[in-house]
Amino acid sequence: METLLPERRIALPADSALDPRALFAPPVAEVWLEVGFGAGEHLAGQATAHPEIGMIGCEVFENGVVKLLAEINRRALGNIRLFIDDARLLIAALPEASVARAFILFPDPWPKLRHHKRRMVSAETLDRLAVILADSAELRLATDDADYLAWMLERATTHPLFEWLARGPGDWRQRPADWPATRYEQKALAAGRTPAFLRFRRRPRARGASGLQDPRK
Ligand SMILES: C[S@@+](CC[C@H](N)C(=O)[O-])C[C@H]1O[C@@H](n2cnc3c(N)ncnc32)[C@H](O)[C@@H]1O
Repeated sequence: METLLPERRIALPADSALDPRALFAPPVAEVWLEVGFGAGEHLAGQATAHPEIGMIGCEVFENGVVKLLAEINRRALGNIRLFIDDARLLIAALPEASVARAFILFPDPWPKLRHHKRRMVSAETLDRLAVILADSAELRLATDDADYLAWMLERATTHPLFEWLARGPGDWRQRPADWPATRYEQKALAAGRTPAFLRFRRRPRARGASGLQDPRK
């Protein structure tokens, strides 16, 4: 961990936007972002399946970071970089249209009404993700909490820059084959809860427009 972490850890530039592609050598075809990767099963799975993609993972939970570093070491994964702080700081620092896929899987549900403002999936986060996601980029969300599911759907399906990719009733109950399982999904299933797997597409920008203004401009 002492040697691997400094190589993989992302530090935000003090006064400029972060160029996510510059974090990877050899160069990567695209950059994907996972918020709150937990112990990193999904991140490591995607990095293994897609060595051509640069994977950025954000997590504040130290034990999870340690587990993922062990897996990076075991699988010799060169295409993962880590941001070990509040993901919203990284999302705020990324340039427009710089991310080709984003994942927020089983975010903390914060069930009490007075804590709802802490939920990671919010109108503000969706607005900011719409800025950093490229045209037609996919946003994947998962939850096993019925109230958070309704909250996510309410915000994401009414967001003007996202389109829900559900193909038919119930297809969001099946995890797509290219979506590695996580620890929280296993916990949910073991407890008899039914997870939901939501896929959204960032609508293409109108020519010459970004859809939403990047607040740094
Ligand atoms: C319920 S766990 C789910 C972990 C993993 N995605 C999974 O499915 O197993 C939520 C994770 O989000 C992380 N998290 C919460 N707030 C965060 C934030 N602001 N920035 C980065 N990670 C965060 C937590 O530390 C925790 O590991």
